[in-house]
Amino acid sequence: MTRRVLLLNGPNLNLLGTREPGIYGRTTLAEIDATLVDEARALGASVLSHQSNVEGELVDVIQAARGTADGILINAAGYTHTSVAIRDAIAAVGLPAVEVHLSNTQARESFRHESRLAPVVQGRVEGFGPASYLLGLRGLLSILSQEKRRRR
Ligand code: DQA
Repeated sequence: MTRRVLLLNGPNLNLLGTREPGIYGRTTLAEIDATLVDEARALGASVLSHQSNVEGELVDVIQAARGTADGILINAAGYTHTSVAIRDAIAAVGLPAVEVHLSNTQARESFRHESRLAPVVQGRVEGFGPASYLLGLRGLLSILSQEKRRRR
């Protein structure tokens, strides 16, 4: 069975490639998406990707994931540190979720040290640039295959 991963990217990540390249690098979001789609296919999974700068839209997409995705890979960007609504949406749908960040948020400004999502995700990967997404995908797929084994 192909596992379906919803990849969600939050505000300003549409600007990757030109946005603060010293922190986020020069890889574009389209390139990250394409790499993830390929990697997922090689691992027997599929990726549906969505980016939004709007908090409520991210909440809508998470809600719609119930029934259409098996797990969520999310970089909520700035909303990571502020959004009770995104955290509640992840908790509400009850799908396994993995949080990823390009940068090491713990080594940056103190307002980035808290993640509101951390308590409702299964794991977090950060600081590896675009590789954070690949590692997060592998982590999420490993959780999903453990779940399947448990259900058998
Ligand atoms: C980010 C880290 C956040 O603190 C920041 O607001 C972002 C990107 C990252 O991927 O490193 O927009 O999520």
